[in-house]
Amino acid sequence: MGNKELLVSAIENGTVIDHIPTEKTFQVVNLLNLQNETHPVTIGFNLPSKKVGKKGIIKISNKFFTNEEVNRLSVVAPKIVLNIIKNYEVVEKKTVETPDELRGIVKCNNPKCITNNEPMPTVFNVVDKAHGILKCRYCDKEQFIDKVELI
Ligand code: CTP
Ligand code: ZN
Repeated sequence: MGNKELLVSAIENGTVIDHIPTEKTFQVVNLLNLQNETHPVTIGFNLPSKKVGKKGIIKISNKFFTNEEVNRLSVVAPKIVLNIIKNYEVVEKKTVETPDELRGIVKCNNPKCITNNEPMPTVFNVVDKAHGILKCRYCDKEQFIDKVELI
C-alpha cells in the first residue's frame, strides 16, 4: 500500500485489526479489554473501505493476542482480519474462528435464565456455526450470535 493511502500511521511491531464493521469498533475494544492496555493503541473508525463500506481499524503496538482472545471477536465481527506486524511487515493474517463454546462473553436473552439472576458466568454451546446459533447451557434457549448482548 502506498504511503499516501495510509490514514493511520504504520506500526513497527504489533497487531493491526482491520476490516471491522465501523459500528462494531468499540465492541472490539471492549472484547479485547483495550481500555486497560498499556501499549500504544490507535483507533480509527468511519474510514472508507472497498470491502465493507466504512470500516474500523485498531492498531496495538507490541501486542500479540492468543487464539482464544481472537476468537472472542466472532460474536461481533466474524469477518475481521488481524495482521501480525513484525519489523513493519505483515507476517501473518489471522482470521476469526467461531469457538465451540462461549464462556462469560455474552448474556442469555432469557430473563428467567439463572445466569441473569445469580452472579455467575454464562456458557453457550455454538450449535450452528454457519448460521451463528447459540444455545444456553443453563436454560437451553437458542439465540442468534448477532442478537445477543455483550456482558
Ligand atoms: N499496516 C500497518 N503497519 C504496518 C503494515 C501494515 O498498520 N507496518 C496495516 C495496513 O495499513 C493495513 C493492514 O495493516 O491496514 C494490512 O496491511 P496489508 O496486508 O499490507 O494491506 P492490504 O493488502 O490492504 O490488506 P487486506 O487485503 O487485508 O485489506
Ligand atoms: Zn439461559
